[in-house]
Amino acid sequence: MTSDADTQHPAPQPMPGPAAAAVKLPRRPRVFSGAQPTGALHLGNYLGAITNYVAMQETHDCVYCVVDLHAITLRQTKAELKRSTLDTANMFLAAGVDPQRSIVIVQSHVAQHSELAWILNTVAYMGELSRMTQFKDKTRGGEAESIGVGIFDYPVLMAADILLYQTDAVPVGEDQKQHVELTRDLAERFNNAFGKTFVVPQPIIRTTGARIMGLDDPAKKMSKSAESAYNYIALTDSPDEIRRKIRRAVTDSGTDVRTDPDKPALTNLLTIYGLLAGEPVEAVEARYEGKGYAEFKTDLAEVVVEALVPFQRRMAELGADKGFTLDVLRDGAERAQAIAERTMAKVRERMGFVSRP
Ligand code: TRP
Repeated sequence: MTSDADTQHPAPQPMPGPAAAAVKLPRRPRVFSGAQPTGALHLGNYLGAITNYVAMQETHDCVYCVVDLHAITLRQTKAELKRSTLDTANMFLAAGVDPQRSIVIVQSHVAQHSELAWILNTVAYMGELSRMTQFKDKTRGGEAESIGVGIFDYPVLMAADILLYQTDAVPVGEDQKQHVELTRDLAERFNNAFGKTFVVPQPIIRTTGARIMGLDDPAKKMSKSAESAYNYIALTDSPDEIRRKIRRAVTDSGTDVRTDPDKPALTNLLTIYGLLAGEPVEAVEARYEGKGYAEFKTDLAEVVVEALVPFQRRMAELGADKGFTLDVLRDGAERAQAIAERTMAKVRERMGFVSRP
């Protein structure tokens, strides 16, 4: 199933919209997606994932999850994990995820994620997990001797996340596609062995904006761990920092403001412009026909500033009032648990567990 939502990016809404009308609508297809609380919040994360989350609320029932159990596959400090978990939830909300319409949760608050992951461990094969490119990247050049079991098992927990909610569609970046395919395999294997229990989900791979590249090196993904701060725009950068970084962004040879495989830098900058302004890239190209890089970059900086300022204001508000976020997460966990428990009851029954008397 494809949806317009993966190709259309309306301008992010800084404030949650009103709740859906109270009329009972037929069940819409369900979306599940997760983001790691790594603290690495930059424009690439925002455009790559979060604007898409916001758009999909129009067409789907969405569950958005801060995956803290995934984050601990790499050692986290106590303070960092806490802060990043709340920051990531706040980022969803500040970007326009509406907690009335969508379910926002922290993964560890719904214990069924861990429970189903264990059960799926008995369905998954060592071979298929060993072939996951993300795992192979982590072991490249060495052996698995001292790689954490959690890193190896990461995709099974991700499958549990998705399958618990009878998810139809999983919006992810290209790098997670293989994990969603594994999820499909595990769902089908389980269904064949124990009877139809899980919906087999479809990945929805973002076409534009799937990969926002570094401003100083358009050959590599934008990354907060890049050597230079000129690689990325942090979501916390001030308007002046944003303007400075965009002024310094590398460009390609030539003078035309257009996308081209030979113009990776301009392609990246035009993509950012289009996504944030909510315009097709072609319309942006047309506007800058015959104009130079400098004028385009000046305007782009203002587009970025204009999009980020309300977002930052909302982040600051949420940061100052933890109560709101905690209420959202409490309510989310409750709604999520009801769905997750329905699935787990089915799983336990199908497998022959004696139900708790
Ligand atoms: N592995 C995903 C990432 O790093 C995060 C994630 C965890 C996820 N569980 C998920 C994404 C379930 C989609 C669905 O980006």
